Amino acid sequence: MSDYLEKFEKMRIAGNLAAKTLDMLTDNIKIGISTDYIDKLGYEFIRDNGGYSAPLYYRGFKKSLCTSLNHVVCHGIPSRDRILEEGDAVNVDVTAIINEHYGDTSRMFCIGKTPIKLKNLIDATYESMMKAIKISKPGIKLGDIGHEIQSYVEEKGFSVVRDFCGHGISTTFHEPPNILHYGEKNTGIELKPGMTFTIEPMINAGKFGVKMLNDGWTAVTKDKSLSAQFEHTIGITEEGNEIFTLSKNNTAFP
Ligand code: MF3
Ligand code: CO
Ligand code: CO
Repeated sequence: MSDYLEKFEKMRIAGNLAAKTLDMLTDNIKIGISTDYIDKLGYEFIRDNGGYSAPLYYRGFKKSLCTSLNHVVCHGIPSRDRILEEGDAVNVDVTAIINEHYGDTSRMFCIGKTPIKLKNLIDATYESMMKAIKISKPGIKLGDIGHEIQSYVEEKGFSVVRDFCGHGISTTFHEPPNILHYGEKNTGIELKPGMTFTIEPMINAGKFGVKMLNDGWTAVTKDKSLSAQFEHTIGITEEGNEIFTLSKNNTAFP
């Protein structure tokens, strides 16, 4: 029988803490604040709710969450010098550890008015993640997930970042298998009940090429085009899947 229920119970708690952190940030992210302030709010919220921010000191990362703005693909480092401005779009990626289990989730936050091109990119990114989650159940293969995302966003003229992927997650932050956001149907390993992993497509308005900045973390689009990302942590059940990082503000535009 379902010997993963205990693990799912803990993943639910960790996922909920990460999602609630993003909900809290939704009320606070606005024009004029620094990305470092977002980091501080996230750190304190997770700590005050009995958890710990997984990125802090992870492989030398010195902040508690990632803030990736505009053409930053992922792993942007919060900074006191980066003040949010009209027209900015920032992905905030939160990972909470509680009871030795990890919950990993990210959303986009738009500052002020959202240009239509940016809105379309964010909508497509969110929809591609949700479409991939909807098909995730025992019997499908990892390639089906990648194919679902890739075919959806490419049809709209966007591209899927190749250099970063989703990952298994439970009592470690990143574990096998890699969850590629592009691929061929009916390839790769088969999903089984009890598997827990993230789906976190990074979608570029231009080409998929990525460049690493000198800080060793910040990944940006090579062609300087805009990039968007959403992330959920899910678990595969007998019937389908459970999203551990769902919450009230779980929409493309919270
Ligand atoms: N949260 C990211 C992910 O989705 C990983 C961030 S690692 C960090 O896998 F060190 F940059 F925080
Ligand atoms: Co992740
Ligand atoms: Co993440």
